[in-house]
Amino acid sequence: MYENPVITVLGAGYVGLTTAALLAHSGYTVYAVEPNASRLNAIKRGKSFFYEKGLDPIIESALDSGTLIPTDSYEMGIPKSDVIFSCVGTPDNPDGSSNLTYVFNAAKEAARYLKPGSIYIQKSTVPVGTGADIEKLFTKLNKQIDYVSNPEFLREGTALQDTLFFDRIVVGGNNKQATDTVLSIYRNLEACRETIATKADVTSGSRKGEYITTSLNSAELIKVTANAFLALKISFANSIAKLADTVGADVVDVMNAVGADERIGSSFLHAGRGYGGGCFPKDVSGLIASGHQHGVELEIMTAARAVNDSMPGYIIKKLQNKLGDSLKNKQITVLGLAFKAGTSDVRRSPGVAIANALQRTGAIVRTYDPQVQDEAADDYVDGIMQQTSLEAAIKGADIVVITTEWLEFTTYHAANYAKLMKGSLLFDAVNCLDIPSVQAAGLTYVGVGR
Ligand code: UGA
Repeated sequence: MYENPVITVLGAGYVGLTTAALLAHSGYTVYAVEPNASRLNAIKRGKSFFYEKGLDPIIESALDSGTLIPTDSYEMGIPKSDVIFSCVGTPDNPDGSSNLTYVFNAAKEAARYLKPGSIYIQKSTVPVGTGADIEKLFTKLNKQIDYVSNPEFLREGTALQDTLFFDRIVVGGNNKQATDTVLSIYRNLEACRETIATKADVTSGSRKGEYITTSLNSAELIKVTANAFLALKISFANSIAKLADTVGADVVDVMNAVGADERIGSSFLHAGRGYGGGCFPKDVSGLIASGHQHGVELEIMTAARAVNDSMPGYIIKKLQNKLGDSLKNKQITVLGLAFKAGTSDVRRSPGVAIANALQRTGAIVRTYDPQVQDEAADDYVDGIMQQTSLEAAIKGADIVVITTEWLEFTTYHAANYAKLMKGSLLFDAVNCLDIPSVQAAGLTYVGVGR
């Protein structure tokens, strides 16, 4: 077992950069390999290329102390490293299966420099069976490498808290010394977590997380199963929201009471415009494709995906029904482009999908998000006008649609919306507003399942 391993992290995205920066504060020297020049330059200046609370200060201090070494070269850190974390992207193929090009390319490229006996840890989300294939690859290349699956459970927006005050660390592999080394790295991180949380100025917690060791295949399956189950809860809540709409119930009240049952739990039952981001949509499709590959039909996940895909259209339809006429030439403002609050990430963003769908109806669409600048530009259909302030976005609007639960939107007084808007319809697509306050300001409130 390595006592004080030197570490290389491959891929400095949401997962890799968070992992590298935190480990660089836990007594390790960490090489962070990022091939994208503009992202690498940002990291070298002490900045992440995405918005994540608390991350920049700890990148900066790790650079100052020399424990974090950003580079675009595999050759620089890997030959000196005992432990390699692979955190490269796993996008999806057009058929929904996982695209493992980056995962295998990273393993092949790393293999050129890996020293015998080093540990190769997969943090990227991969379909079950991938680790076994990479082990075969290393054997074919005649490399004595121990392969470990260590799936990531952090959420964007709370990446630091989730990693420091984790629910569980899952480690799967065939060599006990290797899995023990990985566990010891996390125990050291846990020992420093209060200090790091203070430095990053993020809320600390007291959670005593679990350390779980499993087989390689089980560890891989745990990750996608956890994401799929959370996505399933959201789609379940959205199915009930549709029923609540037709019978005049309030899905928020329903789910609060349902979630109060400890056996069910209240998290991820928040109905609205559906889930987005770089993980749930791709992981649900990946699990379905994985099932097909092994002859198993995961009907429940196919249904969860269909419900999610239906939500933007459901919201537009509800808006049309409410107005009783066409949306053509209506001035509509969409507030929220990030796939959730706390991030600047717009991958599979419900806000962008809704803005595009509205634009296609002939409406005149303006958007605004406090953290998203030009990230959504490539995803827009022609004609959408992104504004740089909340006031500029809502001034003169016939309808405002809130698609991300940013504090800036929820704490903005309903009377201010009323004052700036031309019309009076406030569509709360994330069910985050207090209905009486909105109505007291003279606005018409519409939610999803409320
Ligand atoms: C998700 C998981 O929560 C993490 O545990 C996991 O590590 C990560 O994917 C990953 O695989 O890397 P993330 O995608 O960052 O994290 O965001 P979540 O907070 O899970 O939210 C996902 C989407 O679901 C967002 O669009 C959010 O608005 C939506 N959501 C969430 C709902 O619509 N309702 C809810 O009740 C909760």
